[in-house]
Amino acid sequence: MADFDLLYRTDPDPFRVGSSWYEQRKIDIVLACLPRPRYRLAWDAAAGTGHLAARLAGRCDRVIATDASTTAITALQAHGFDECFRSTLPALPASAAGADLVIVSEVLYYLTADERAATLAVLAGMTADTVCVQWRHHPHDAQLSGADAQAEFDTAMGAGGHQRLVQHGEPDFLLSVFRAGGV
Ligand SMILES: C[S@@+](CC[C@H](N)C(=O)[O-])C[C@H]1O[C@@H](n2cnc3c(N)ncnc32)[C@H](O)[C@@H]1O
Repeated sequence: MADFDLLYRTDPDPFRVGSSWYEQRKIDIVLACLPRPRYRLAWDAAAGTGHLAARLAGRCDRVIATDASTTAITALQAHGFDECFRSTLPALPASAAGADLVIVSEVLYYLTADERAATLAVLAGMTADTVCVQWRHHPHDAQLSGADAQAEFDTAMGAGGHQRLVQHGEPDFLLSVFRAGGV
C-alpha cells in the first residue's frame, strides 16, 4: 500500500504534476471537459499537490481541496490554499456536501474494494458534475488498474441515475464526467 505521507516528505511533487507534459496536458483536458463554464463549489477529493485545484479556482467560486496525506495538506496550506484540510475517502466532509463539481483524480485505484464501494456510494449520492480521471494502467502500489477502477466508477454512477456527459479515452488515461439526474 502506498505511503503518501512518506512520498510527499521525500519529494514535494512525486508524480511530477507540476512539470510533466502528461500531467499538464491532462489538467488542460479535465478543464476543457467541464460541462459548465462556472461552478459554485468544487471539491477536489484527493488534491495531492493542488495543481488541478489551483486551476479550478479560475472556474469556481470556491474550491475545497482535501487529501488523506497530512504532508500534502500542509504543503497546500503553505501555498496559500484557503480551504484545504485532511480528509480520507470515503468520508464526505460536511463543507463539501453541497459541491456542484467533484473531482476524483488518480485516487480510486489506491483504495481497497470496500473503500471504493463506499466512495462510489458517496459520489453517486451527491448532486454534482463528477469528474473521474486516472492513468489507465496499474500502478505498482495500487489495488487495481485505472481501467478497472474507471469501469467501477462508470457503473456506479450510471446505476445511481447519473447521466454520462463526457467519456474520453487515451492510451494512457481515461476520463468520465457524470451529472446527477434532474440537475
Ligand atoms: C497519484 S496522487 C494524485 C493527486 C491528484 N489527485 C492528481 O491527480 O495529481 C494520489 C493522491 O491520493 C491521495 N489519497 C490516497 N488515498 C486517499 C484517500 N483514501 N482519500 C483521499 N486521498 C487519498 C494521496 O495522498 C495522493 O495525494
